[in-house]
Amino acid sequence: MSSAEKIEDIAKRKGFFWPSSEIYGGMSGFYDYGHLGALMKRKWENLWRSYFLSLDDNFYEISPATIMPEGVFVASGHLKSFVDPVVKCKKCGHMERADHILEEELKENFEGVSSEELEKLIKQHGIKCSKCKGPLEEVGTLNMMFPLNVGTTKVTKAYLVPETAQEAFVNFKRQFEVLRKQLPLGLAVVGKAYRNEISPRNLLLRMREFTQAELQIFFDHDNVGEHEEFDEIKDYKLCLFPAANKQTGKVEEVSCWAIIEKMDLPKFYVYHLAKIQQFYLDILKIPKEKFRLRELSEEERAFYNKIHWDIEVELNDLGFKEVGGCHYRTDHDLSGHQKISKQDMTVNIEGKEILAHVLELSFGVDRNIYALLDIAYAEEKERTVLRFPFGAAPYDAAILPLVNKEGMPGLAGKIKDVLKAKGFTVFYDYSGSIGRRYRRMDEIGTPFCITVDTDSLSSKDVTIRDRDSMKQIRVGIEHLPMVLEQLITYRIEFTEAE
Ligand code: GLY
Repeated sequence: MSSAEKIEDIAKRKGFFWPSSEIYGGMSGFYDYGHLGALMKRKWENLWRSYFLSLDDNFYEISPATIMPEGVFVASGHLKSFVDPVVKCKKCGHMERADHILEEELKENFEGVSSEELEKLIKQHGIKCSKCKGPLEEVGTLNMMFPLNVGTTKVTKAYLVPETAQEAFVNFKRQFEVLRKQLPLGLAVVGKAYRNEISPRNLLLRMREFTQAELQIFFDHDNVGEHEEFDEIKDYKLCLFPAANKQTGKVEEVSCWAIIEKMDLPKFYVYHLAKIQQFYLDILKIPKEKFRLRELSEEERAFYNKIHWDIEVELNDLGFKEVGGCHYRTDHDLSGHQKISKQDMTVNIEGKEILAHVLELSFGVDRNIYALLDIAYAEEKERTVLRFPFGAAPYDAAILPLVNKEGMPGLAGKIKDVLKAKGFTVFYDYSGSIGRRYRRMDEIGTPFCITVDTDSLSSKDVTIRDRDSMKQIRVGIEHLPMVLEQLITYRIEFTEAE
């Protein structure tokens, strides 16, 4: 089985995700999260929130609508430019993304390559329809947004949002006014976005309905060369894959300070790149060699970006894949909304009229969940284990009475209630041998198993088993919440928790 097949299998069998509307045959590009997937997604989103919203006291989360009128997308440029290159088969009518059909044939990434160039390559390599081998029409384009008619008698043309970003932009002026009237101001949205992908694929990696976690940071462009906290990260080394290294594939570790000196990137941008890398390496525990920040060339960049580095994680079989991006969108969006809505989007700070620029930190939540599953999956001699970072595992701990009698279930139930009330996600399992129950928890990535045995009744302590080392320690019941918090949040050494 390929690694994608293994993930698909465990996801379905255990309750992470599966095709949406499965009983009707499913719909390509739509997935539902089951009970474990939903827990994990919430954990990832909360890790993201607590990390990125803490970067500045003036960063906030908002929760806007996901259907927006056409004017928004005229202003943002999505109506004109949010298009994918497509080719249609002259014989069977099958339509495919032109860059994907080339990627399949030539095993190279052609994302962002112009339609003209794709057309040339398709001709040069004699590419035919992947379904019937018929000849292909010329490369055309297709807008990826889902249109809607809102209302009945008076109909408003609208779209499902293709990115959460526009939701923050249209709220910027009001939020600025009701808050401290200060920049930088950060508006975060964790919400759904929709794209009518021509070829959805790779499970959660390219979906038509998906979740984004995006932080739009509005700032004064005159301050782009500064960041108050830059000194804190100046010697920190980023794993960079500059556009110039495309042929060699070489990732360079460069300190933030050296990036400023040599690479013509502003401090405000580099500071946030560093924070992104720290989130992946320190919080999500992605191994450094599986992480890189990839610079997109001018042709590859999204139409609204002046500087664009993708956040990439290396997956088994699939290689490096985008899980997010750090986008300098300039005043592209606010000036567009000012023009089309005819509302003044400038703000006044101490007499200075500012049309804020935007730095966008954008993350695909589903892609991140997939990446965690892919990296965590391990087959060992006696078990399959998902080595999730502790904070992102669906369950923090399992509570297991050694046998389902002799007062053990009663005590285990009390422990479960206390831990739940303290905010831990716990799973209570009393069926089967203790060894089988450990294996079941390993397979869904539960970091800790708490076993209540005969001694627990008299000595008021329990065994905690560590998923990764399979070592066990004995801990007093009254200390359990504190010990779990230290293990999960503060990541103290397992054997030191005793
Ligand atoms: N908001 C950026 C993106 O959707 O990629």
